[in-house]
Amino acid sequence: MANEPANPTASTIGPVILLGPPGAGKGTQARKIVEHYGIPQISTGDLLRDNVARGTELGLEAKAIMARGELVPDELMYGIVACRLREFDCQRGFVLDGFPRTAAQAGWLDAFLEKEVFEKSDKPGNPADVAAEKCPPVVIQLLVDYNQLLLRLTGRRSCPTCGRLYNIHLQPPLVDELCDLDGSKLTIRDDDRREVIAGRLEAYETQTRPVADYYRVQRRLVAVNADRPIEDVTAQIFGIIDRHTIDRHTQDRHTQDRQIQDEQKQDSIPRMDASKL
Ligand code: AP5
Repeated sequence: MANEPANPTASTIGPVILLGPPGAGKGTQARKIVEHYGIPQISTGDLLRDNVARGTELGLEAKAIMARGELVPDELMYGIVACRLREFDCQRGFVLDGFPRTAAQAGWLDAFLEKEVFEKSDKPGNPADVAAEKCPPVVIQLLVDYNQLLLRLTGRRSCPTCGRLYNIHLQPPLVDELCDLDGSKLTIRDDDRREVIAGRLEAYETQTRPVADYYRVQRRLVAVNADRPIEDVTAQIFGIIDRHTIDRHTQDRHTQDRQIQDEQKQDSIPRMDASKL
């Protein structure tokens, strides 16, 4: 069933990329994937906000850019994403929420996965690296109507303690402005003000839409109607990830079968008697 947790160590899921405009539900769905498949969520927005809150060098550079709703320069993103993807918990897979966001970032990610995952997996005797072996990303695009996006962004509230998301128009808390789980006062994101939202949607149109084209050409893009209740969207996404995982395992088995057949064929070739040469 879609919402029953999967065995978190059962199989390798590989990279899952959630694409979509601000408010499409990437964060909401990423959390469902985390719960179900036991892989970590890597939200570049959360990583940046954490850097801003800690006042790091990156945070200081990113703060004003994010406040205007613009994208942080690619070169600043590569370092934090690379660091996070190298962490141990990413070995069975991970869900990327908010990255890649430009065609250049998509190209960088492909090169990173090729070098750091595929190359490492060729080295024998390192089982930790085998996990993400030969797992091309599954790229899921969340499609949502523009007016619905505005409702989602202007109504979004989050719990500063547990991170749970609410929406005052669409999924309100039981008590106004308080988290259902721990009673904390809900907060509004700095960039969810109307004037900033316009800039974020503009940045999406001009810089992030080409990312979908990048993956479409590679036949890796699967679009989902995300203008539906959260659970329906989740069920579609789980179906896509499950099919992707099964297809890959079937391919792996076929490759192994072919290798065994090739080896058997080689064994069955009559050996020439060297003395007759
Ligand atoms: P980031 O934090 O990634 O924000 P975003 O992409 O604008 O996306 P959001 O988090 O606003 O929306 P979401 O799709 O996650 O929707 P959510 O699930 O929250 O980026 C912030 C900034 O950081 C950027 O502007 C940029 O400056 C910078 N940045 C980040 N990554 C970068 C990168 N790679 N390169 C350069 N700069 C980068 O849902 C929204 C609301 O809708 C919630 O209230 C939720 O409850 C509700 N909702 C969700 N799904 C549904 C549904 N199906 N039905 C009804 N309501 C729903």
